[in-house]
Amino acid sequence: MSNPFKNIQGETAWRAPSNIALVKYWGKYGIQLPKNASISFTLNNAFTETSVKYVAKTTDDKQLDINFFFEGQENPKFADKIQKFLESIIPHFPFLPYFSLEINSSNSFPHSTGIASSASSMAALALCLTDIENALDGGLRPHEFFEKASMIARLGSGSACRSLFPYLSVWGKHTTIPFSSNEHGIPFHDTVHPVFKTFKDAILIVSSDEKSVSSRAGHALMDGNPFAESRYQQAETHLTNLVGYLKDGNLDKFGEIVENEALTLHALMMCSTPSYMLMLPNTLKIIDLIKNYRSEKGVPLYFTLDAGPNVHLLYPEENAAEVETFIRESLLMYCEQGKVIYDQVGKGPVKIK
Ligand code: DP6
Repeated sequence: MSNPFKNIQGETAWRAPSNIALVKYWGKYGIQLPKNASISFTLNNAFTETSVKYVAKTTDDKQLDINFFFEGQENPKFADKIQKFLESIIPHFPFLPYFSLEINSSNSFPHSTGIASSASSMAALALCLTDIENALDGGLRPHEFFEKASMIARLGSGSACRSLFPYLSVWGKHTTIPFSSNEHGIPFHDTVHPVFKTFKDAILIVSSDEKSVSSRAGHALMDGNPFAESRYQQAETHLTNLVGYLKDGNLDKFGEIVENEALTLHALMMCSTPSYMLMLPNTLKIIDLIKNYRSEKGVPLYFTLDAGPNVHLLYPEENAAEVETFIRESLLMYCEQGKVIYDQVGKGPVKIK
């Protein structure tokens, strides 16, 4: 059979940001479906740029034909991951086997910082693929386009599906959030106080070592965790309450939930079998200093953590000068080579080609 896309070629490129969860996704079922709904800030400075060149094949070969370059170099480990991911999504993108693809990807942040790039990279790739499908088939309205890209990003990495939207995104069916879905993220900023739309996130790099447990293995540990069911209920309640605090601009209550979520995530890992302790001594030191600083100065500075030792400091833009002085004077000494990445809430992905 001849190639229905004969002589078609083109290129698309997208920039997609990373995100930081406020209510965490931890535990999944089925094909990348979350056990509880989560919400995140979309970041601005930590992003991936991905371009995909596509040329219709002249042969009848139905194997995927992909050349993948990471930061200008061949990267067999990443290429293998991308190949498997693309094979798994052929049912969603039946055009894939008819093209030769050249994928180029690069991150705005050095990969030795311990920042997970899976969210931004899967989001950027999903946008490129959805864009190609749209160029071939047409017909997706903007909200459908981002919904599909989010669903595809989710199949690559769950949290990636929240990197598609400006300011904040919710992923997972939640009783009080209209249109929320387990299949894809949704934008969530209409009912959010402006203070949160310019929120800062300074990422303190305590260690850039590779994670001792992958997210995939971490999620799987929830299946045998004796606290799993109460955790999923807690996440539901946290999200209900957080939605109200985001609306009112209630910083103290926002911080209370966000910090509790981070510590719960780590507590869940500590009491899994096998158990993992992902905080390092300097993580605890930094958390302690943040709490003291907040109570002494009355500055709304809060922390959150991913599944690792690095600390995200969250604070309003108007407090940036004093918080960043505090970071330089009192916290950088606990970071690996004094490393910190200053980021903030951002407006979501952009098409760059
Ligand atoms: C702790 O999205 O990395 O960052 O779906 O297996 O790729 P996979 O997991 P991933 O898990 C992220 C977990 C988290 C919390 C969060 O981002 O919600």
